[in-house]
Amino acid sequence: MDAKDFKYINNSEAKKVLSVNVDNISADDLLGFILLPEDKIEALVNLAAKIKEQYVGNTVYYRGLIEYSNICAKNCLYCGIRACNNKVERYELNEDEVVNAARFAAEHHYASIVIQAGERTDSLFTSKIARLISKIHSETGNKLKITLSLGEQSEETYRLWRDCGAQRYLLRIESASEDLYRKLHPADGKHSYKKRIEAIESLRKLEYQVGSGVMIGLPFQTPQHLVNDLLFLKDFDIDMVGMGPYIEHHETPLYEHRALLLPKNERFLLGIKMVAALRILMKDINIAATTAMQALHPKGREMAIVAGANVIMPNITPLKYRKDYLLYEDKPCTDEDSEKCLKCLEKRIATTGNQIGYDSWGDSKHFTNRKNS
Ligand code: 5AD
Ligand code: SF4
Ligand code: FES
Repeated sequence: MDAKDFKYINNSEAKKVLSVNVDNISADDLLGFILLPEDKIEALVNLAAKIKEQYVGNTVYYRGLIEYSNICAKNCLYCGIRACNNKVERYELNEDEVVNAARFAAEHHYASIVIQAGERTDSLFTSKIARLISKIHSETGNKLKITLSLGEQSEETYRLWRDCGAQRYLLRIESASEDLYRKLHPADGKHSYKKRIEAIESLRKLEYQVGSGVMIGLPFQTPQHLVNDLLFLKDFDIDMVGMGPYIEHHETPLYEHRALLLPKNERFLLGIKMVAALRILMKDINIAATTAMQALHPKGREMAIVAGANVIMPNITPLKYRKDYLLYEDKPCTDEDSEKCLKCLEKRIATTGNQIGYDSWGDSKHFTNRKNS
């Protein structure tokens, strides 16, 4: 975030911003939310909390996160596991490790898992994933809903994985503004905004529950970019959103622009405002309280839940690999095993007044409503 572009509005303007018609939110309203001064954030959060309770209820659903592999063919300028970072020790879980993690999720009533990895499109990888999806279903009695977060793939690959039993897919747009997208990705022919959009469109066509999201507080990002991000998610009728603050990683090219960043507490609060604004804008979608929120604030995920999030992704990757999946610095849960994270999250969620949706898939109501309309 270029701090000089970021001027908070004054308190009398803030009052107007907070008396919006929630059924007709405009781009100006969204800009107003983003520019609220700190002492008005609570009122915005309260508005979002009311909408959350009314539309999706005060239940948080679990998605056990399996960080399957940190091998990646891409070089996003912000990401700690980018292909060119040769300080990373690369790993890939074996089939038993994945199935055991899935079993842990099923036995602990998580009902959903997410398989995430760096992006690879080679057929060895895509067929391995296909086999894994089938095996997880057969080994856990078809109880789990499987979300994939494996980057841009061809329509055939998305179809193959769907036919094996994946029902949801997360593919963040990272920034909905093409100018900013270009500043975050190298011009090497492998990173294209247009291709990213096409990938999201093919997921939609294949009837996945589609998730997307953005990073908040990036260098070069302005409040208007964030408004565009929210409008993008709405225009694309996205079912699930995971968005969180950008956090610098010293082994990445974007690190050299760290002087442009908002201080961490302000970046965190901007993340909270974005979650609340999104809940007000897209009332019945699923929104994740992302781990990156907790990297910037010790109660970051709980605060995101209070501000409108209703999904959380407990890490269930075998402990020994966690330190090698560092997309950004200070990532939480790298020293705690799955049992510890489970206990820790139960306590954290209890403080928010939400209950945990054990044994419930917690499908996006937006997706269900869309299908039934
Ligand atoms: N800070 C915050 N989020 C990041 N991601 C990657 N690198 C960073 C970072 N430095 C996010 C991207 C990606 C997701 C898997 O992790 O949004 O889509
Ligand atoms: Fe690879 Fe994803 Fe990181 Fe980009 S953000 S370098 S695709 S793991
Ligand atoms: Fe992993 Fe708290 S959720 S340590």
